[in-house]
Order: sequence, then C-alpha cells, then structure tokens
Amino acid sequence: MKKRKNTVVFRKSQIQKRVKEMGRQITFDYQNKDLILIGVLRGAFVFLSDLSRAIKIPCSIDFIAISGYGPASSGVVRLLKDLEENIEGKDVILVEDIIDTGLTVSYLLRNLKARNPRSLEVCTLLNRSIRRIVDLPIKYIGFDIPDVFVVGYGLDYGQRYRNLSHIRALEEKDILAGVF
Ligand code: IMP
Ligand code: MG
Repeated sequence: MKKRKNTVVFRKSQIQKRVKEMGRQITFDYQNKDLILIGVLRGAFVFLSDLSRAIKIPCSIDFIAISGYGPASSGVVRLLKDLEENIEGKDVILVEDIIDTGLTVSYLLRNLKARNPRSLEVCTLLNRSIRRIVDLPIKYIGFDIPDVFVVGYGLDYGQRYRNLSHIRALEEKDILAGVF
C-alpha cells in the first residue's frame, strides 16, 4: 500500500500480482475438490473475474446479491439475487471485494451454510479489520487496509469508479467536486 498525497493507492500491477498469488494458493489448496466460487455482487465482479482466471483447476462460478448491510444501511438484509447452482456437497469459496464490519459476509455465511456445502471459506481482496463488528474466519486476504474509504477495481461510491483498474482512497473533497 502506497501513500500519495493522503491518497492510498494499490496500483494495477500490485493488484494483478497479488490476485495471481491468491489464485495460485487456491489452485494448490483445492486440488481434487469440487470448487465453486461465489461472487458477491456487485463489487466482487472485477476481482472474481481476475481471480478465476488465476485458478488453474476446474471450478464453477456463481453470484449472489444482497441489499442491506454496508455503509449507511438500516441493517435489514434482503436477498436481491440468489445462486443458480446447488452448492450441497460442494467446496465453496465466497468471494468479496472488501470486508468491513463483517455483517454482510456473516449473513451470507449463515445463509450458505444452511445449504450444506462440503466446505465453505471466505476470500476477500481487501480487509478493513479496524471496523469489524463480527469476528469472521477469512481464509484468503489480498490486502489489509486502514480506515479509509476506497474505490476502484469493482468498488464503488454511488455506483461510480468500479471500472478503475487501480484502487484509491476517495476523499471528501473529491466526492464534493465530482472527481472521476
Ligand atoms: P460490511 O458488511 O460492513 O463488511 O460491508 C461490506 C460491504 O460494504 C462491501 O461488500 C462493500 O460493498 C461495502 N463497502 C465497505 N467499505 C467500502 C469501501 O471502502 N468502498 C466501497 N465499498 C465499501
Ligand atoms: Mg459489496
């Protein structure tokens, strides 16, 4: 993680390198397993896209979407999009863009566990543990980050910035100025 004028940045090359390492580790850990990657929409779609291509064993891919938890939410959770695959007996990795309070992943783990997968692990690109409310077992972490709001590489602010290839801190002055 690099600090540049108060803006924390993960360069595209840093992200690509780390995602490839994570893919290699998962490839090693899931030999002879029945792997399914579940991306949490919408933020995880970029990470999952690169991560899946760094995994060199057969796997299936599915998506789930919830509304509710996350910054400025009421704490009420609603399933917006359910899985299309049956995960019973499968080796599931839940793939997130960022884990903050942990409420989103904790809800999803409870929901997925009830479907009786053979194994269930969590993989997140970013981990901001300083704001964690619920303790979570996270098997794969890309980067730990401090208490800054970040955008890019799938992460949004008001649905924008997801298409950046790097990750940067979004400062209040940028938000007010509508900087892209
Ligand atoms: P949690 O339930 O508090 O762990 O929140 C996780 C969700 O909040 C993530 O899936 C993101 O959608 C969103 N989120 C948390 N922090 C950030 C951030 O810094 N940038 C963009 N989205 C974030
Ligand atoms: Mg999210």
